[in-house]
Amino acid sequence: MFIERLKLKNYRNYKEEVFDFSDGLNVIIGKNAQGKTNVLEAIFFSVIGKSFKTNKEKELIKWGENNAQIEGIFKRKYRDVKIEVFFDRNIKKNIKIDGLSIKRTGELLGHVNAVFFSPDELKLIKESPEERRRFLNIAISQTNKRYFYLLGRYEKVLANRNKLLKTSKDIKTLKETIDIWDRSLCDISEKIAKEREEFVKSLSPLAKMAHSYISSGKEDLEIKYNTFEVEGDYKTSLLKTLQKNLNKDFKLGYTTVGVHRDDLDIYLNGVEVKNFGSQGQQRTVSLSLKLAELEIIKNRTGEYPILLLDDVLSELDSERRKKLINFTSKTQTILTCTEFDQEVKNYKKIEIENGKIKNK
Ligand SMILES: Nc1ncnc2c1ncn2[C@@H]1O[C@H](COP(=O)(O)OP(=O)(O)OP(=O)(O)O)[C@@H](O)[C@H]1O
Ligand SMILES: [Mg+2]
Repeated sequence: MFIERLKLKNYRNYKEEVFDFSDGLNVIIGKNAQGKTNVLEAIFFSVIGKSFKTNKEKELIKWGENNAQIEGIFKRKYRDVKIEVFFDRNIKKNIKIDGLSIKRTGELLGHVNAVFFSPDELKLIKESPEERRRFLNIAISQTNKRYFYLLGRYEKVLANRNKLLKTSKDIKTLKETIDIWDRSLCDISEKIAKEREEFVKSLSPLAKMAHSYISSGKEDLEIKYNTFEVEGDYKTSLLKTLQKNLNKDFKLGYTTVGVHRDDLDIYLNGVEVKNFGSQGQQRTVSLSLKLAELEIIKNRTGEYPILLLDDVLSELDSERRKKLINFTSKTQTILTCTEFDQEVKNYKKIEIENGKIKNK
């Protein structure tokens, strides 16, 4: 699949602009602070209904304006999809798919797919487990709406359980009332964990392959799904652990076990990459995860997603850079950079200056 055209109106530093993309490699070139990342943000927004930069959607509206608009025309194998997003300072955003408004952002998922990668994604390796869960959640939700809705339900149940932990007078009353939330939490957790496990099972060999390719076979990548210690049946085991931890949870006022604490363990040549990997290795690992995500989406939907690469070339050595560029030939790629000196025969160059396309 690919994005053929993107129209922006009052989006970030764009007044009004139309981008026509090729279905191969597109290179957006410009100096710092001209609006390169903003283009990728807008594309990714129309794919998942969220910004990768902010949760405050008003920030996306051009300063001094009251509303903004993104329109994306996407081409899939068997159909075209038009996605429009309308932002207004005073009312909730409205998303339309082929002209019809949707009620929930979740309805957007699965119409088109994209994988976004930037140097900032290093946090996927370096920072807290939350970043790795976010990766899992976005990656799985893109091809599995049910999973997205499960996450929403889980959050609600968890919030209710935590509220009860905080407000119960004593452990005795807590024990009498918490069971309903525990059972509900176990039901949903089992489904979420199953999806995550399956995803990591597919991800692991693909990421290993991508990493080996980019590092020219020098490094061996291993990824494992890290959840609580399951003994026997998942649901029974989680319920037991929740009950065992109840005193502790009551003292702390929050739930200490469950899929909201899941993580990914990532090893390079047998050692944990988070603590021992070099900056470049960590960067390559995060990139390999994203390239593996690309393959999984292809396997699950039959089409490669759009690859959005923000400013990644400057961070890799020349050999890894070349390998990455080779990898992009499978998909439509939209890449941003300040300079482009790669030996690529066919690519579309889009120069940007101050929220405008220069070479139109
Ligand atoms: N709501 C907004 N209204 C107007 N301008 C905005 C808004 N939000 C951000 N900007 C401006 O957009 C500019 C360009 O942002 P962007 O991150 O796309 O730059 P970039 O070309 O990717 O730069 P770099 O090479 O440094 O990454 C910033 O200078 C910022 O001030
Ligand atoms: Mg940028």
